[in-house]
Formats: sequence, structure tokens, C-alpha cells
Amino acid sequence: METKSIRVAKGLERVIVDDTAISSTDSKGNLVYRGYKATELAEKKSFEEVAYLIAYGKLPKKAELHEFSSQLIKLSRLDNSTIRLLKSISGNAPKLDMLRTVISGMPLEGNDEHKALQMAARMPALIAYNVKAIKPMKSKNANYAERFYNAITGIEDKNLAKYFEKLLILYTEHEFNASTFALMVTASTLAGPQAAFTSALATLKGPLHGGANSEVLKYLLKFKSKEDAIRFVDKKLKAKEKIMGFGHRVYKIKDPRAQFVKLQLRTLSKEKGMYALVEYAEAIEEEMWNLKRIPANVDFYAAIYMYLLGIDEKFYLPIFAAARSFGWIAHYKEQVASNKLIRPDSNYIGPKGLKL
Ligand code: SDX
Repeated sequence: METKSIRVAKGLERVIVDDTAISSTDSKGNLVYRGYKATELAEKKSFEEVAYLIAYGKLPKKAELHEFSSQLIKLSRLDNSTIRLLKSISGNAPKLDMLRTVISGMPLEGNDEHKALQMAARMPALIAYNVKAIKPMKSKNANYAERFYNAITGIEDKNLAKYFEKLLILYTEHEFNASTFALMVTASTLAGPQAAFTSALATLKGPLHGGANSEVLKYLLKFKSKEDAIRFVDKKLKAKEKIMGFGHRVYKIKDPRAQFVKLQLRTLSKEKGMYALVEYAEAIEEEMWNLKRIPANVDFYAAIYMYLLGIDEKFYLPIFAAARSFGWIAHYKEQVASNKLIRPDSNYIGPKGLKL
């Protein structure tokens, strides 16, 4: 019996396409990972604990955490063919393009879940590959965030790595965002985890989704005063142009991640003695709210946060991808566990009945 098609909003806005037990957000600005408040997890847990929670559905016991943490180290090692693939890509290719290319072609072993974990575990090493020669870490039991932070900055500092870890946790998962949904569509064809991760990485590149944080830093660094910043907003809005780092499909009041990072910036900017960027950012946020009632999203304050942590902006989006890859593991498994090919209908509005 033919089922009737239903028409939904463009961009699937406000359309529930499936159930998920991984995370939930709402317009008021709540973000929950597997039942826990994401900002509370960022405050109190390690990245490994949260990555495990997201990927496997529960917080790890001590032995599970130890095993998972050692797995992440073991699986992060790059084999020779992956290194050859890395070397074949030009050094000045955008890091996310390199990541997508290498992830799509590197050899993986084991079942789908193991392949997905292997890709997630390797991301920091792929992103940090060829970074100026970094001296080996002194600490022998550095955690994921400390190793990743050291690999991309050369800095070995537990306090700064802790700031970095909190951002990684807030990047890890976010329901059916565009790159995760692209992963789900690919997974639904049974193309496997490597194709699904490649779809997600390709989708993440767009400035409407992942690529905004670098754009935010570029414009913030141009300002010499708060008035400069406000003039920038007024000019962009008058020209009906979008301001990177603002707006969100779900968050209409506030992005809890942006507000959490903004608070962390209060202490980080004090420690660094660098206040100007935060002052400009807060002035822009206020102007956008007063004029358009549009909240800052995570990318807005994350851009300054990573700048103050001494992270080069070419790593901003790859860092997002590395953390989000654990959310991708969870969504990949959830999709294939109760799979249905994702293939929507369309309403044809083209010409009909033409004769050749
Ligand atoms: C993330 O989906 C996720 O979960 C993404 C993410 C994740 O963790 O995966 O949360 C990551 O949030 C990063 C988003 C980074 N992108 C940007 O910062 C780019 C700028 N933002 C916009 O392009 C926009 O806000 C989107 C794409 C994020 C959301 O767009 P929507 O939901 O399709 O809304 P829209 O573009 O239809 O805008 C609605 C109105 C429009 O005004 P009108 O035409 O109705 O008058 O709001 C305006 C827009 O012009 N608007 C903006 C704006 N964003 C929306 N106006 C100025 N600047 C903006 N940034």
C-alpha cells in the first residue's frame, strides 16, 4: 500500500528524522550527553571518560578507562602506508582536507567498531604530523588532551591542557548536525565506517557548519577598539551579511558551550594578561543580541580560547573533527544497529512531456 509523502521545511528545519540516545539539545540552550549535562562533564571529567561515555553509552569503570586510554594510545600509531599517504599531500593543503584524504584511504583492520575507533584515535597524530619538531614530552603518563595539545603547540603544561580538554569535551557530540547526518546517510547505505567518516569530514568543512572558528579569529584580530568591533557588526548587518560565530539551527537563546567557554576565558585571559579580544567579543555578542536576538555559537568564543592557548588557527577545525569523531562512532553504531536506508522523496517541479 503506497504511503503518502509528507512535505517538510527546507533544510529539515525542526524535523525529527529519527530517535537517538546519544545527546540532546534544545532551543533554550541545554546540551545533554547520554543523560549528563555536557558542561558538567567538561568541568568534572577527562576527555577519555566522556569519549567512552559517548561511544559506549556509559561512564567507564576504572579498568575500562585504563583499557580505553591505552587503546587510544596504541591505535594512534601511524603505519608506513598511512605515512606515505600523508607525505603525498602537499604541506600547505588545509589540514581538514589532509585529514579527509588520509582517513578515506588509510588501511584499517578489524570490525567496523574497531575501524571507527582506529580512525578517531589516529586523528591527533594525523593533525600534528609534520608540526615543527616537538621535543618528546617529559611526562610519561600524559592523557589524551595533554598529548594532543603538546603535539600541536609544543607546550607541555597541565593547566593549559586542562583548558584545552574542556573544549574538546564540548566539541565531542551534538545530535544530528550536518556532518553527523552526512555520516548517518552514508552509514545507512552500509558503505562502512571509513566512507561514513569521510562524508562527515567533507561536510564539516563548510563555514555554515564547522569552518566558522577560523573566520571569527580573522575578523576579531582586525579590531583596535570596542567601537571598531561594533561598527563591524552594524556594517555587516546593514549589508545583510552573516557574521561567523553567530546563530544556530537549534539554540535560539544561548549555546551552552559558548557560554561555558566565555566563562573559562575570564580566567584564561587573566592568566595570559590578554583582555582586548574578549572585550571586543563581548561587545559584538551584546550588539548581535540587541539588534538581532541572535546568540553566539560555540565557534565564536572557541576561536579566542584557542588563540590564547597558542594554537595555530589552521588546527581549529581539525581539532573540532578529532573530538567529534567520538560522536561519529556513536552515531555510526546507532544507525547501523537499526538501519533503514536514508532516501527522502522529492517534489518534481521541472518540465513534463517533452518530445525528443
Ligand atoms: C556550530 O548544527 C550544529 O549542531 C552545528 C554545531 C555543532 O556542534 O555541530 O553546533 C557547530 O554551531 C557552528 C556553526 C558555525 N557557523 C557559523 O557561525 C556561520 C554563521 N551562522 C549562520 O550561517 C547560521 O546561523 C547557521 C547556519 C548556523 C544556522 O542557520 P539557519 O538555522 O539555517 O538559520 P538561517 O540562516 O535561516 O537564519 C535565520 C535568520 C536569517 O535572518 P532573516 O533572513 O530571517 O532575516 O537569522 C539570520 C539570517 O540572516 N542569521 C544571521 C546569522 N545567522 C542567522 N544574521 C547574521 N549573522 C549570522 N551569523
